[in-house]
Amino acid sequence: MSTQSKVLVLLGAPGAGKGTQAPILAERLGLLHLATGDMFRAAVRDATPLGVLAKGYMDRGELVPDELTIRMLLDRLRRPDAEGGVILDGFPRTVGQARALDAALAAEGVRVERAPYIEVPQGELVRRLSGRWICRANSHPFHDQLNPPRVAGVCDEDGSDLYQRQDDRADVVQARLDAQLPPFREVVDHYRAAGVLIAVDGTKSIDLVTKELLAALLASGDGDPSAHGTPDRA
Ligand code: AP5
Repeated sequence: MSTQSKVLVLLGAPGAGKGTQAPILAERLGLLHLATGDMFRAAVRDATPLGVLAKGYMDRGELVPDELTIRMLLDRLRRPDAEGGVILDGFPRTVGQARALDAALAAEGVRVERAPYIEVPQGELVRRLSGRWICRANSHPFHDQLNPPRVAGVCDEDGSDLYQRQDDRADVVQARLDAQLPPFREVVDHYRAAGVLIAVDGTKSIDLVTKELLAALLASGDGDPSAHGTPDRA
């Protein structure tokens, strides 16, 4: 990171639409998209020591311990391609992670500039997660009813095959929400207290949520985190 780096934290409960929106925002805003869920899934697929440790937690719908997660993310942020700024997706998930990120950024003279928050009620999260299909090559998300691919079983973006994540099974979905929503709400409070939270209604269509996020981020300007483009409805 350098003092010029922009850091956005995209917040949302599991299934709120972070993975759907983050690549679009990253492209439009010229930022690198970093998703800790994707990083962990790559580590599991490659059977690295980190992947072996993380797999059990992920399969049960639990958070991977802070120590492992923080180290993985901060190491990734130190790589040169993060210099131009990042949008974080799925991190931080606990106040401990949020504080570790704040401290690491402060050491570089940087801070989280905005925390756009995709708000979705719990019942809708269950529906979105249990119908979700992910592409094998790049994790592009689809939904069998809400956002179906043009050709069944094939990713619109890169043509790779679609699969259902292990942690999107109905029993694990509920366990994920039970375990992860309480710490997630504390993270929302952390960014609200810091004056950088921008809440957006995530129940609208994918295109409308994108428009609201971009409008809020662009309207809120680059310098003053208290200048919210959209009122905090959280
Ligand atoms: P991760 O991959 O981050 O999972 P998650 O937060 O549970 O988020 P998801 O990817 O499941 O949901 P999303 O918000 O990206 O929604 P999506 O865009 O896909 O993490 C997986 C696991 O890794 C965790 O459980 C944990 O074990 C571990 N982990 C990761 N980060 C960690 C951390 N920081 N600390 C500790 N552990 C960590 O959308 C969902 C569905 O809805 C899709 O089907 C999509 O097509 C559809 N959809 C999206 N938007 C809309 C819309 N507006 N209208 C209708 N449908 C929509």
